[in-house]
Amino acid sequence: MHGLVAANTVVAATACSVWDIYGSLQVLTIINTYLPNVLGTVKVLEGDGHVGTLLNVTFPPGTPGVGYMKEKITKVDNEKRVKETETIEGGFLASGFKRYITQYKVIEKNYTSSIIRSTIKYEIDDKLANLTSLVNTNLVEILAETVGKYLTEIAPSPSPSPFPY
Ligand SMILES: *[C@@H]1O[C@H](CO)[C@@H](O)[C@H](O)[C@H]1NC(C)=O
Ligand SMILES: *[C@@H]1O[C@H](CO)[C@@H](O)[C@H](O)[C@H]1NC(C)=O
Ligand SMILES: *[C@@H]1O[C@H](CO)[C@@H](O)[C@H](O)[C@H]1NC(C)=O
Repeated sequence: MHGLVAANTVVAATACSVWDIYGSLQVLTIINTYLPNVLGTVKVLEGDGHVGTLLNVTFPPGTPGVGYMKEKITKVDNEKRVKETETIEGGFLASGFKRYITQYKVIEKNYTSSIIRSTIKYEIDDKLANLTSLVNTNLVEILAETVGKYLTEIAPSPSPSPFPY
């Protein structure tokens, strides 16, 4: 069986500025700086952010399971502002999923705001259908909110920021 979960996050930053982060390795810097205890720490194993780049995410201490996932960037479309990463080892694959893909799409809303649409697509054997209850968009939504806060509260201003993380 396969399925997906998706969430939209509205951020007060232009699609262009949000894509500058999501479409490049800057998103990893944001994760490693602000979210190591939430998402984990990400290391680039190979590549520069383009298709084929390999990442290793070490989950925060205490996360159930194998504690890491290796991911490959499988799509970076600068015109449609779509990026996809697929787990190739560890993570949900270690729990029995056959495929686990995260897609980020940045949609222009108006001159000042955009929508980050985060989608998780998965495939799993029917026998393990109960595991699909583990799939949710909580972490990718936190990432989207953090990128939005980074762009509105930190990036434009050199003064101390009220950023909560
Ligand atoms: C990926 O991260 C895990 C957990 O930190 C580590 O055990 C593993 O050796 C790393 N894999 C690579 C290829 O660096
Ligand atoms: C753009 O969209 C945001 C979020 O919905 C809204 O708060 C803002 O007023 C809109 N701006 C314009 C110029 O329409
Ligand atoms: C799913 O079912 C298997 C086998 O019945 C069980 O061992 C496992 O704990 C269940 N997992 C979840 C997340 O419900």
